[in-house]
Amino acid sequence: MNTDPLFSPFTLENFRLKNRLGVAPMTRMSSVKDSIPREDVLEFLVRRARNGAALIFTEAIVTDYESAQGYPGQARLVTQRQIEAWKPVVRAIRDAGAVSIMQMFHCGRVAWPEINPAGRIIAPSPLIPRDLNPLTGKPYPVPDEMSLFDIGHVILGFVETAKGAINAGFDGVEIHGAHGYLINEFLSAYTNQRHDAYGGTVANRYRFAQEIIQAVAPVIPADKLLTFRISDWGVVDMDVSLFRTKEEYQQIITSLSQEPLDAISVSAYDFQTKAFGTDRNIAQLTREATSLPIMICGKIYDRATAEMALKDADIALSAKSILLNPDWVEDVRQGKPLRPYHSAEADIAYTTTPLP
Ligand SMILES: Cc1cc2nc3c(=O)[nH]c(=O)nc-3n(C[C@H](O)[C@H](O)[C@H](O)COP(=O)(O)O)c2cc1C
Repeated sequence: MNTDPLFSPFTLENFRLKNRLGVAPMTRMSSVKDSIPREDVLEFLVRRARNGAALIFTEAIVTDYESAQGYPGQARLVTQRQIEAWKPVVRAIRDAGAVSIMQMFHCGRVAWPEINPAGRIIAPSPLIPRDLNPLTGKPYPVPDEMSLFDIGHVILGFVETAKGAINAGFDGVEIHGAHGYLINEFLSAYTNQRHDAYGGTVANRYRFAQEIIQAVAPVIPADKLLTFRISDWGVVDMDVSLFRTKEEYQQIITSLSQEPLDAISVSAYDFQTKAFGTDRNIAQLTREATSLPIMICGKIYDRATAEMALKDADIALSAKSILLNPDWVEDVRQGKPLRPYHSAEADIAYTTTPLP
């Protein structure tokens, strides 16, 4: 029997992950034409699967042609041409013995109009982050407060993109509810100041996420996966916790546990940080509130940190380490001395330099 905590298999619904290490979703901004990522960016995912990662997330795929895109060069998955581009990637990941999940998102207020075909930004409330947009050096424009029509339209975008992923053969779909993007903007009182059924109480702020999950779930076949990503930090105004208290966070986790989800992916900035003024980290607080499988991410970079992270979670995801080191899984297996990477080093992800 394999008792190595990192390299023992894990059953995720119908899938058997060969180990507990996966590639976290990573936006690469490489799609020049047709919202299809560059060939080397797609090959990167296949290579990580061949090099031992058990689970491969795609970059965040934007859910519509109106306002979902937050960064230049993001991908979509709603046209036949886009579906055909992903099919061989998904097949190769499966042939390598790994599981593939397409992550989809709507950026909400963290965008600027020029990059979206419709030139419009939407959010739960017309509020901008304090931080400037690092890509333009300017304040983010004030978003339109989403109407009920907008809410319905955005939900359809998630559904259509999930259908695209299923058509492309993906093993699962992830709804990106983290990092201060649209779904997170609804969940958090920091960004949601609505007075209708989508704002105010935690239950009301949860409603938009719930409607997306419940609309997407029926298009995911029973033998495929549906996961949800959540975080207590955002890409803008990072010092602001997106949830005010442990109770509020756990109420949302409890609500998510009642949805047709197969796992919750918890994105911590650093998995070891004690969350919400408690003496427990965010994976531990998540575990208290759900019996769903938990993925954890955030400064997991070597065998010791991966083992520590898996004390409170089932699957450990890496972004920067697995981005910059193609042999990361094998190096972790061997317990090699490894260092954490800085965010600036990961900026190579956004260049045209093919990664090894
Ligand atoms: C280049 C890059 C792109 C990222 N893009 C996404 C994304 O598309 N979706 C997402 O949920 N997180 C994204 N993240 C966040 C990572 O998934 C992860 O949560 C974060 O980097 C912390 O993990 P790490 O310490 O292993 O890097 C990105 C991170 C990096 C470095």
